[in-house]
Amino acid sequence: MPARRVERKRDENVPAEVRETTPSPGRLVVLGIETSCDETAASVVVRDEQGGGRILSNVVRSQLAEHRPYGGVVPEIAARAHVECLDGLVKTALAEAGLGLGDLSGIAATAGPGLNGGLVVGLVTGKALALASGRPFLAINHLEAHALTVGLTDGIAPPYLMLLVSGGHTQTLLVEDVGRYRRLGTTIDDAIGEAFDKTAKLLGLGYPGGPEVEKAARDGDPNRFPLPRPMIGRPEPHFSLAGLKTAVRQRAEAAAPLTDRDVSDLCAAFEAAVCDIVADRVGRAMDMAEGAFGPDRPRRLTVAGGVAANRKIGAALARLAAERGFALSVPPPALCTDNGAMIAWAGAERLARGWVDGLDFAARPRWPLDPTAPAAIGAGVKA
Ligand code: KG4
Ligand code: ZN
Repeated sequence: MPARRVERKRDENVPAEVRETTPSPGRLVVLGIETSCDETAASVVVRDEQGGGRILSNVVRSQLAEHRPYGGVVPEIAARAHVECLDGLVKTALAEAGLGLGDLSGIAATAGPGLNGGLVVGLVTGKALALASGRPFLAINHLEAHALTVGLTDGIAPPYLMLLVSGGHTQTLLVEDVGRYRRLGTTIDDAIGEAFDKTAKLLGLGYPGGPEVEKAARDGDPNRFPLPRPMIGRPEPHFSLAGLKTAVRQRAEAAAPLTDRDVSDLCAAFEAAVCDIVADRVGRAMDMAEGAFGPDRPRRLTVAGGVAANRKIGAALARLAAERGFALSVPPPALCTDNGAMIAWAGAERLARGWVDGLDFAARPRWPLDPTAPAAIGAGVKA
């Protein structure tokens, strides 16, 4: 059955103009390719007639080792690493699923937001596979893929509130429907993961910083070093992390030379401040989303991004959700961080609605999920 071809204008997620009109109602098998940052990933996912999802294969190759010496992601190294391993990963993903290209219903690749070089590698590969197999191509917004993951892992349908917290993104989103997203808050400076990474670097800990700061904070005293909590209590829903990071630097400089205890206490204080900021800002997003949940619709909060792995942040969100009557759904860590299954799943959700893209779809290094959202000053790199 032919899928309908939809023209997506720049920055648009909801189709504006429909050329052909046949959604794909049956079982769909989609290959997903992810290359927007420092993970190369490929996965095959099935979407059944009822809209349930199942992962047949999910292979990820992290480039952490290549970037570690530089303390951050180097775009040129990332693009080259994607080129070197993507074809092998696709082959493995198909082999693990026990399928060939001819068994697929569609091929999805991340088109943005992210690092241009990596996006081009994934897009060209996905388009070539679509052309060779005669299957429809789906250009996926990476943020949409994170936002829809709970549909794959937990069968959860919109509406729900979403906190996306990674190295490049810090956003609260209202997922109204597939293709309809309202951005509530974003960061006006650093992403939360970035703040963890910079704090770790400053304190002489390794990269990526999140897990290192969490480990060091475990026996620390969160009250010894007082730190600010920017934006708390403000009506606008945005985040700001730069002032907190600067305060950590000032405290560290004042206490230098730092002992292990100092580092532990600084990490604990930083983590506690981030927990307070997250709880307050997500609470504000809950206020704003109030009207989206009718009396028969459960209120639900979902989380994605590498920072979601942090136990204290997870506990703060669980407390907040319980206080506010929200159910909390957190996908397993491997599906919270960048992966191919979320791209395949977003592709399947779009294909089911008949929304496919042309082979002329270009990479979009900046691609906001909600084009109507006003820009917050100096918003995070990919927001
Ligand atoms: O989603 P992700 O794997 O990659 C992208 O940024 O796209 O997120 C990585 C970020 C890094 O900044 C890392 O420091 C942070 O997530 N992170 C954590 C933890 N694990 C990873 N931050 C706080 N606590 C953690 N346990
Ligand atoms: Zn991501």
